[in-house]
Parts: sequence; C-alpha cells; structure tokens
Amino acid sequence: MIRLSRLAQTFSRLSHMRLNSLNSLEKKTDLYRQLYAKILACGPITLAEYMKEILIHPTAGYYTTRDVFGQRGDFTTSPEISQLFGEIVAIWIINEWRKISGESIQLVELGPGRGTLISDILRVCKKLNLSNKVSIHLIEISPVLSVIQAEKLCIESRNIEPRVNEDQKNSVTHYREGVTKDGVKIYWYYSINDVPRKFSVFIAQEFFDALPIHKFQRTDKGWREILIDIVQESKEERFRYVLSQMPTAACKVYLSPHEKRDHVEVSPQCSVIIDYMSQSLWECGGFALVIDYGHEREKTDTFRAFCQHKLHDPLLNPGTADLTADVDFLLIREIAQKDDRLITFGPVTQRKFLKSLGIDLRLKMILQNATSTQKQQIESGYRMITDEDKMGNCFKVLSLFPSVLKDHLKKWPVAGFEDEKIKS
Ligand SMILES: C[S@@+](CC[C@H](N)C(=O)[O-])C[C@H]1O[C@@H](n2cnc3c(N)ncnc32)[C@H](O)[C@@H]1O
Repeated sequence: MIRLSRLAQTFSRLSHMRLNSLNSLEKKTDLYRQLYAKILACGPITLAEYMKEILIHPTAGYYTTRDVFGQRGDFTTSPEISQLFGEIVAIWIINEWRKISGESIQLVELGPGRGTLISDILRVCKKLNLSNKVSIHLIEISPVLSVIQAEKLCIESRNIEPRVNEDQKNSVTHYREGVTKDGVKIYWYYSINDVPRKFSVFIAQEFFDALPIHKFQRTDKGWREILIDIVQESKEERFRYVLSQMPTAACKVYLSPHEKRDHVEVSPQCSVIIDYMSQSLWECGGFALVIDYGHEREKTDTFRAFCQHKLHDPLLNPGTADLTADVDFLLIREIAQKDDRLITFGPVTQRKFLKSLGIDLRLKMILQNATSTQKQQIESGYRMITDEDKMGNCFKVLSLFPSVLKDHLKKWPVAGFEDEKIKS
C-alpha cells in the first residue's frame, strides 16, 4: 500500500521533473539525475550509497572516469608532491622485509592513483638490485587510472578477462597485467580478495579515506542515521541531509553500545578490507603500512568534498568533486588485533615517520646535484609533506605485523616506531 502510493507520487513527480528538466535538471550531471530519480522512487539513501555511486559508478564515477590528481585536478597527494616520500616508504619496506625474510615478496598497493608511489619504490628496488625479488599487485577499481598506471610503470601491458574456475585451478583473478623495463611483473585487481595469498607487503596511501561511510547522529529518541534526500522547492531541485525516522539497520549493526560521541562516522568497507588483510598477514606472513589523514575516535564530523583544491559542498553537482572522510585508526587497530592476529605500531605523524627514516639526509643528497630551480621545487615539496602546519601532522602512519613476530620485533624494532613498547 505504502509502496503503491510512493510509486504514484513518483510518477507524478517524474513527469513534473520532465517538464522542469530544461530549467534545472538538464544542467546537472548524469549522476545527479540518476541519484535524484532513485531517491524519488525509493526514498532517501544512506551516505555510504551516495558516496559509492559518486566515487566509483562504472560509467560516471569520480574515480572511474578521469585523472583527478595534481595541480589541474582536485587534490594532490604526498607521492605526487615529492619523490622523497616514495623513496622513504621504499627504504622502510626494504628494511622491514630484509629483517624478516630473504625470499621474494609481492608488494600490494591499494588505490595506487597515478602509480607514482610504486614507481618511486621500484626505482629504489632497482638501485639496491632487488628488482628480481618483487612482483607488484595493484588494487584499482578505476579502469581509467589503471591505464594511467600502466603507462607510467610498464613497457607493455594488456587487459585480461578474469575467470574463476570451480576447482580454482587456472583461475585468473586479475584484469590487467604488464611488465616494467626491469622485468618486474605488475598485476591489477578490482578487490584485495583477488590477490594471491602469499607473503605480502600491503601499502595503503590515502586509500581508506576514499571509502564510503555511514553517518549517525545521537538524538533525544536514540541513534538515527543521516540520509540523503531531495528537496523540491519552487525553482531548484537539490539534495539535502535528513535524519532517518527510526534507527536503521546500519545503526544497529555498526554502532557500539559504549559509543560516547554524539556524531559518528563508520566505514564498513574499511573494516572488511582490514579484516581480510589481517587474516592474510596472519596466515601467509608479511606486513602493512597505512598512511592517511585520520583520528583515534576523537573526531566526529569529517565528511567533506574537494573541488579544484578547495572545500566544496558534497551535495552539489555529484561526480565533480572528491568525497572523503577521516580514517578511524582505532578501528583499524581493533580489527587487526582481534584474536591476537597482528600487532600494530602507531599511528605516528607523517613528519615523525619520514624524519626518523632519514628524509633530511636524503634531501641533502638530492639537493647536491640539483639546479637552483630544482632546489626550490624539491625544498618546497619536502616542506609540504613534513611541515607541522601542512601535511606533516594531519597525515598519520600505522604499521601492522603478524603477532608471531613479537619477539623478533622487540629485538629489532620497526623503523619509525622505535618508541613504542610491545606488550608481552
Ligand atoms: C585518494 S586516491 C589515492 C591515490 C594514491 N594512493 C596517492 O596517494 O596518490 C584513491 C585511490 O583509490 C582508488 N579507489 C577508490 N575506491 C576504491 C575501491 N573501492 N577499490 C579499489 N580502488 C579504489 C582510486 O581509484 C584511487 O586510485
């Protein structure tokens, strides 16, 4: 009954929308129109659904249809700003890897963007004669970005049709493969679940902040979820935030009964990926590095949008701006430490991490052979990624290791996290 009346209302509004479309809707993005029609037909959607559609919609999504990085894009990231960042991350990986094993590794990057971080890491591996000991596994949802990554990293690459056979034999789980000029093999996957289960080093640099979140608000009547609805005023249709009338399923599933905050953001996809990664590290060995802006549950409302390097209204012209939210590092630690699978170090600030791994020394070295214009660029990049009032403090670094390595890591502490005590 309720559905029928909603349907009748929808048809009447849709025809009204068609009449009005020349004035307003046709000026909006395709995504706007799709989301608008969906909400009109089915009612308000969760913020997680809104973010997912906008960021990774197969034909109109923000990440899936364009290169969004750099000065001409909407935001820039540490590896894009300075080669020092990738070099220091490479030194950290190689240092921790060689302490644990002399075997080959698969290096797995989640959300590689333009492929700059992996390119810098591979350059360091080459310098240290380690190219023949690594294979690269990139988790990238965007076909457009996977092409940009392949162009940067490979001398040749090709698309593959993934196929999963029942007996798992001869299954192909990657959708693209290529090889670098130094013979390093590179594979692309849509999901972390598709990466071969082996000793792996996982890197997630500004990946988790791009995953969809649910948002909850404490009210006099208890917890309610913040949803996206439409508003139809005389001239303009637009999106708006509303509170669910009742607690939604997500309120019941994702909120802790001990929650103290009044406003909470939760990313279920982040939890699932960290859980999968933790299980893989525990069963097959390896370690992980997570770098992102985030908090340890002291923050509440962090959902925001960026368009051309400026803050932007997340509900305006969906698909034209990046949507993001701070990462809950405490949640990552809790999931990783569940059942004593992993031990975690950090989060420490990006500044502290880079400095304790010797970024200042590396800076001096590369300045020696630079022209004066290059010097200016290198120094300004260095300041951007390390200064306390720039990216140095708001970006945090967390590392994860299998708990079986506890005693080993007490003797040879993890670089960049030496101050941290390991509990017995
Ligand atoms: C904010 S960018 C970070 C890029 C890069 N790590 C850097 O620092 O320059 C997020 C990356 O994650 C990818 N991405 C976003 N959501 C994804 C998902 N659900 N699965 C796989 N990749 C995703 C995007 O396409 C993009 O490459």
